[in-house]
Amino acid sequence: MRIYRLAKTAACAAVVLALGLSAGMAQAGTYHYIKENGKFMVPPPAGWTSSVPLIATANVAKGEAYAKSTCGACHTLNEGGGTRFGPNLWNIVDRPHAHITSFNYSSAIKSMKMRPWSYQELDSFLFAPQIHAPGTRMPFAGIKDTQTRADVIAYLRTLSNHPKPLPKK
Ligand code: HEC
Repeated sequence: MRIYRLAKTAACAAVVLALGLSAGMAQAGTYHYIKENGKFMVPPPAGWTSSVPLIATANVAKGEAYAKSTCGACHTLNEGGGTRFGPNLWNIVDRPHAHITSFNYSSAIKSMKMRPWSYQELDSFLFAPQIHAPGTRMPFAGIKDTQTRADVIAYLRTLSNHPKPLPKK
C-alpha cells in the first residue's frame, strides 16, 4: 500500500513536471525573437532586422497607403470598426493580443493574451506571422522589408485617440 502510494506520488510529480515543462515550452514558444533583458528568447529568423529603431522617423503616409490596400482587405482600421476576415485594428499598439471578445481568434493568438502588442511584437508578427504565432489564422506571408514594416507600424500607432509614445531608437 505504501509503495503504491509512493508510486502514485511519483507519478503525480512526473505529470506535474511534464505539465510544467510543456507550459514552459509553450511560454518560450510565444516569445520568438523578442528581446527580453537584452537577449533573444529564440534566434530570429534569417533576413530579419528589427524595424523598431526606424518607427520614430518612419513614413506614416506610406504606411497608411500600404495598410489600407493590404491589411484593409481583412481588417477594419477605424474606431469602432467591425470584424472582416480579421479583427478591427484600432488602438492595436499596446493592446493585449486577442482583445476583441467577439472575434474567434486562433489558439495561437489566444495563447498570448497576457502579452501586449508592443512595437517589438508587431514587428515580429508582421515580419512572419506564422513564425511569431505558429498556427495563426492570418493568411499573410509577412512584410519582409524593414522600412515598410516601420512605416506600417508607425501608421498603426496613429489609429488611436491617444497614440502611444514612439519607441526609442
Ligand atoms: C488575408 C487576410 C489578412 C490580411 C491581408 C492581414 N491580416 Fe491581420 N489578421 C487576419 C486574421 C484572420 C487574424 C486573426 C489571426 C488569428 O486569430 O490567428 C489577424 C490578426 C491580426 C493581428 C492580431 C490582432 C489582435 O487583436 O490580437 C494583427 C496585429 C494584425 N492581424 C495585423 C495585420 C496587419 C498590420 C496587416 C497588413 C500588413 C494584416 N494584419 C494583414 C487576417 C489578415
